[in-house]
Amino acid sequence: MKLPQLKIGNLIATVPIIQGGMGIGVSLNNLAAAVAKEGGIGIISGVQIGFNEPDFIKDSLKANIRALKREIRLAREKCKKGIIGVNIMTAVNHYKELVTAAVEEGIDLIVSGAGLPMELPELVKETKVKIAPIVSSGKAISVICKMWERKHSRMPDLVVVEGPEAGGHLGFHKDDLSLEPQKIENIFQDVKKALMPYEEKYNSHIPVVVAGGIFSGEDIAKFMDLGADGVQMATRFIATVECDAHKNYKRAYVNAKKEDIQIVVSPVGMPGRAIRNNFIKSLEEGPKKVRCINNCLKPCNPQNTPYCISQALINARNGDIDEGLLFCGSSVDKIDKIVTVKELINELVGDCCQARDK
Ligand SMILES: Cc1cc2nc3c(=O)[nH]c(=O)nc-3n(C[C@H](O)[C@H](O)[C@H](O)COP(=O)(O)O)c2cc1C
Repeated sequence: MKLPQLKIGNLIATVPIIQGGMGIGVSLNNLAAAVAKEGGIGIISGVQIGFNEPDFIKDSLKANIRALKREIRLAREKCKKGIIGVNIMTAVNHYKELVTAAVEEGIDLIVSGAGLPMELPELVKETKVKIAPIVSSGKAISVICKMWERKHSRMPDLVVVEGPEAGGHLGFHKDDLSLEPQKIENIFQDVKKALMPYEEKYNSHIPVVVAGGIFSGEDIAKFMDLGADGVQMATRFIATVECDAHKNYKRAYVNAKKEDIQIVVSPVGMPGRAIRNNFIKSLEEGPKKVRCINNCLKPCNPQNTPYCISQALINARNGDIDEGLLFCGSSVDKIDKIVTVKELINELVGDCCQARDK
């Protein structure tokens, strides 16, 4: 059996795998282009993307916009025909300016979670840019569709359903992460149900991809059989040659065991999954002396935040895995080597097809 394509309007991915956006600086042009070249969708993370620019501390907005535009251009140069998107979290300060910069640079797709991206349709109006919210409940997608329809006469071009096994910030209360209703299979069905009246009304299919804890081709087959149009995966793409993070970060993934995985609370107030290290242990001893880099997130208050999440993520990305925050999905312990994106996608597609043929 061949895998179905993932169609997002006129965009067609021959491999129905989206590489999830990973900030800060973990998914940049190199990883996104490599995935797009193999027929998947490569996503550049826009969060604090200017972290390596000389003026990042002094004028982060300018640095972030310059770096975002450059990363999109470089990804395009490396992969002329593939689909390249950006992930811009709704919770970041200057959300509007970053989305506008990506649109100006001719991005194919904008994916936005960590809040409800209510103003996103307005920001891409009269362009061909596709827009995709990330949600973790049927209720969230209902609210988005209702508001987008009322205010912008527009529906999502794609929906990413992210469950509690994902990496990065999680859209659940810490205590609810392991509850039965929060199982990704149940949330996926709730989201499909919530979309149904809109699909009927507009006589158009809204593709839904599933994210969080997906590791193997067999996992992908399971969700495709349940009716998903594709999957979004992030953790597995970190242990690739092309991933933009430091090699120490990738090695930490290869070395991680089940007991090293821990839920932490981010300054944003949301839980996140990470590899337990010295940084996390030292947080348990009390809040860090915080020097806020540039107040990157709307919900973060530098006066009472226990640590600066930007600094911790930049440390990790740049290879300081003792003093950094190493976000990861729940399947990180299954990773045992670093491979190329081509090898990874071939393995996933081959195993998925085989599982679906059974
Ligand atoms: C290191 C890391 C950083 C992430 N950063 C972001 C981010 O900046 N914005 C976002 O919406 N999701 C982020 N995510 C979530 C991923 O895009 C993806 O949806 C999720 O991790 C999928 O689950 P998986 O990692 O188990 O495959 C991140 C995930 C990881 C592992």
